[in-house]
Amino acid sequence: MMSLQCITIIFLTLAGSVYCEMTSPSTPIKVKAELGDNVTLPCRAPNSNLYGSLRIKWIKVSEDESVTEDVLLSMGLHVKTYGSFEDRVFLQGSDDNDASIIIDDVSMDDMGKYRCEIMNGVEDVMHDVILEVENGPAQGVVFPYSPHHGRYNLNFEDAVQACIDQGAVVASFDQLYEAWKDGLDWCNAGWLSDGTVQYPITKPREPCGGSSSTPGLRSYGRQNKQSRRFDVFCHASLLKGRFYWLVQPERLTYDEAVQACIDDGAEIAKVGHIFAAWKLEGYDRCDAGWLADGSVRYPISRPRKNCSPTESAVRFVSFPDKQVKSYGVYCYKE
Ligand SMILES: *[C@@H]1O[C@H](CO)[C@@H](O)[C@H](O)[C@H]1NC(C)=O
Repeated sequence: MMSLQCITIIFLTLAGSVYCEMTSPSTPIKVKAELGDNVTLPCRAPNSNLYGSLRIKWIKVSEDESVTEDVLLSMGLHVKTYGSFEDRVFLQGSDDNDASIIIDDVSMDDMGKYRCEIMNGVEDVMHDVILEVENGPAQGVVFPYSPHHGRYNLNFEDAVQACIDQGAVVASFDQLYEAWKDGLDWCNAGWLSDGTVQYPITKPREPCGGSSSTPGLRSYGRQNKQSRRFDVFCHASLLKGRFYWLVQPERLTYDEAVQACIDDGAEIAKVGHIFAAWKLEGYDRCDAGWLADGSVRYPISRPRKNCSPTESAVRFVSFPDKQVKSYGVYCYKE
């Protein structure tokens, strides 16, 4: 544990100001979790506290300590959670001195350093916990793709290029089959790497092969690679770099979005990046952002009111006019 040593500095011009100097943190505790786990980040108050008189604050701290993010604040009976932690972080409260929190459904984005601060007016403590999140067995994600100029516009060669442009490759039959088993339902036919054209249906319905048909992959068979045009199923692998929402003050045009990521030492994210972050890292953010292909989407892995309430999904907003200043941006850093 690390303690806070506070000295009060009285300025002539100011009423008073408290300056707190932290002693260098003792080695932080490391906690490991698997993607999707509920994980406990431990923290204890010094003995002899009256529970309820403690003020407990958890923040997340960036590596260089320059950016902090509020996680949870507890004062007496009031507990508040913030941002992406809202409603999924809880105080464990197993006894009067327990200031540990439980984070439900951890994502890769939750990885990092957390700081527990306990203030009781006598002896304040500060305690760091590093959360490491490991990836489960999933190795990739399949997603349907159609470009800006609309549905059923790609011959096979175009389809190969469209997936490459999204940081992905054309999916194989086995990959689409696995995705279907995992719940993928899509009513537009797309190319697969073997030159066949198929689509996955988990909820049979009239316009998608009939409501009396069984769930499964619907196949149009092998199609002429030059002349026939469809959508495509792409496959994106685990990200080597970092997909993130760029925190910045304004909404941007498409060109400004591209530049904002470059200014941040990154590139505007591709559609394959958002799908991989969503599916393989549990990335969740209820903000619509520009992507490299000019589309606007947002990834929801924890369905909730106003943000994809019924299913975990990458939500497609549209291909807006590139001049509109209505969206933020997702970036990708290798
Ligand atoms: C995590 O906790 C929630 C309740 O808060 C529970 O519904 C869920 O099953 C738990 N998940 C795991 C993986 O233990």
